[in-house]
Amino acid sequence: MTITEDLRALEAEAVAAIGAAETLEALESVRIGYLGKKGSLTAVLRGLGGLSAEERPEAGRVSNEVRRSLETAIDERHALLAGAAHATRVAADAVDVTLPGRRHPVGRQHVVHQVVDEIADNFTGLGYRIAEGPQVELDYYNFTALNHPPDHPARALQDTFYVRDLSGDRAAVEGESDVLLRTHTSPAQVHIMEAQKPPIYVIVPGKVYRRDVADPSHSPQFTQIEGLVVDEGITFGDLKGTLEHFLHEMFGPDRRVRLRPHFFPFTEPSAEVDVSCGICGGEGCRSCGGEGWLEILGCGMVDPNVFGYVGIDPERYTGFAFGMGAERIAGLKYGVPDLRLFTEGDTRFLHQF
Ligand code: PHE
Repeated sequence: MTITEDLRALEAEAVAAIGAAETLEALESVRIGYLGKKGSLTAVLRGLGGLSAEERPEAGRVSNEVRRSLETAIDERHALLAGAAHATRVAADAVDVTLPGRRHPVGRQHVVHQVVDEIADNFTGLGYRIAEGPQVELDYYNFTALNHPPDHPARALQDTFYVRDLSGDRAAVEGESDVLLRTHTSPAQVHIMEAQKPPIYVIVPGKVYRRDVADPSHSPQFTQIEGLVVDEGITFGDLKGTLEHFLHEMFGPDRRVRLRPHFFPFTEPSAEVDVSCGICGGEGCRSCGGEGWLEILGCGMVDPNVFGYVGIDPERYTGFAFGMGAERIAGLKYGVPDLRLFTEGDTRFLHQF
């Protein structure tokens, strides 16, 4: 075989190998195998030096041709394989933009918190500050400093969740710091008056706990909003005016407000406050139980005994306090007949507000 025939045979072999390369890596090793420094074609080209002067020009021309033809074949194959690799990647990464997306449900503020915010806004507008108190309380704050006598029924085990059970022996417990879930937000009054000197104008929203069986109007856990004002010259008239203003803001100016004498250990005098029924306008209907009035909150003038526990001079300062249930107010505002709906977490119910 002449060297030209060798070169042509090598070319045919290389072109077949290039065509058979299925990946860019395989193609590159074919290229190195023929055209690399130690490649077969390179070896042939090195051998040209040993040829005779007559053979050399022809052999040089053919070997250049072969090299170019292999380079072209490699370039073409490379373009093809690279294109295919790209297409494969594109296909694998493809996103079907016509598919419907997954909706993430948007949450919202719970209706009870909306009402708490609305009530708090009303009072911050009057210059009140918002405070919070602990949900786990000492008996001292929940009862003793709020002037509850030792035998007050609210202190009984069947009415209050005690965290530390002191075996129900009240006599032995008296004066000790037994721990309970607060039954009202009023203990926050004591914390605030311990920490701050008058003037005090404060609103305290928060969860409270009672040993009640859940029914349409009771729940073992609910939300209260406490109000406390202590300043010089505060009168029962200030209490009444403040609550009337608030209730008109909350329920509308045409609702009537009345106070009924009541008893709370920590206020004297005390009252319960009703607003006229929004459905019958005070005539009496099913939703107000024929009364024409709906009970909204408890209130009164801070008992001087409570001032005694926190070291505020009752000769100089007077004050009032009030407390209301947020679920109850939300129920009245939106006509929700069963307060349990507020805690069941059914989003079909909650998304209405
Ligand atoms: N803490 C009382 C209750 O839970 C409500 C109240 C608060 C009454 C403040 C008077 C003053 O029933």
